[in-house]
Amino acid sequence: MAIFSKKTETAQVDYNHLPRHIAIIMDGNGRWAKKRGLPRTAGHAVGAETFRTIATFCKELGVEYLTVYAFSTENWKRSQDEVGAIMKLLKKYLFEAIDTMEKDKIKMEFFGDLSRLSPELRELCESTREISKRYDGFQANICLNYGGRDEIIKGMQKWQADCAAGLVNPEDLTEASFSQYLFSKDVPDPDLIIRPSGEVRTSNFLLWQSAYSEFYFTDVLWPDFSKEDLLEAIASYQKRSRRFGGV
Ligand code: IPE
Ligand code: IPE
Ligand code: MG
Repeated sequence: MAIFSKKTETAQVDYNHLPRHIAIIMDGNGRWAKKRGLPRTAGHAVGAETFRTIATFCKELGVEYLTVYAFSTENWKRSQDEVGAIMKLLKKYLFEAIDTMEKDKIKMEFFGDLSRLSPELRELCESTREISKRYDGFQANICLNYGGRDEIIKGMQKWQADCAAGLVNPEDLTEASFSQYLFSKDVPDPDLIIRPSGEVRTSNFLLWQSAYSEFYFTDVLWPDFSKEDLLEAIASYQKRSRRFGGV
């Protein structure tokens, strides 16, 4: 099977067997803008709208969890202007999300080290989290200052602190118990991970959780990613045989 998608007219999706958890590396915003002679930030702004559309669509379809990579631990390497513009967009998006949460009933969680964010953005994340506690349906996880390696190291540090405090025993450590030290605790592993933009790598996304995820790559740039593209990815996922090491 080719790892890149082939466009068909309408995706053949079995709506009764949807992936429970979809994760997306929202990539290609900069190239989308460049193609149009626009500043990279214009791509990020349209990309934020794409997230809104795809999150709402996932909820309508009955997908239970959507996890998106919005800003990585490596993205601080970009120019101050670009990082500043992304943070400003995040603030705008979260303000609007808080406003409409009552109506949308989308539960939001954040994966990543929020301590490096501005106090204002951190507070917005915390308020969004608090409001989300009222809902128990569809959950969107936004990965902010997230790195898969960083998540494992931070989890290890918390586990070690618990060991030192006598709360846990080193010999009791299992894959399941360690999962509870990750940002993704209580969230099942992603069934399907989608990367638009033509890059074929994980870029430090959900390293622990993706052990048995199905991957789907497409050349479509994230700001152009449509509901139909999501259905194509789901249709491709549904053709796979997931063996988890069995036969
Ligand atoms: C993804 O799009 C958004 C972030 C990493 C914040 P990019 O900004 O990486 O877009 P490209 O890959 O340069 O096109
Ligand atoms: C991954 O995209 C991070 C996000 C989409 C937030 P990047 O654009 O940062 O990844 P690389 O540099 O192409 O690996
Ligand atoms: Mg990129």
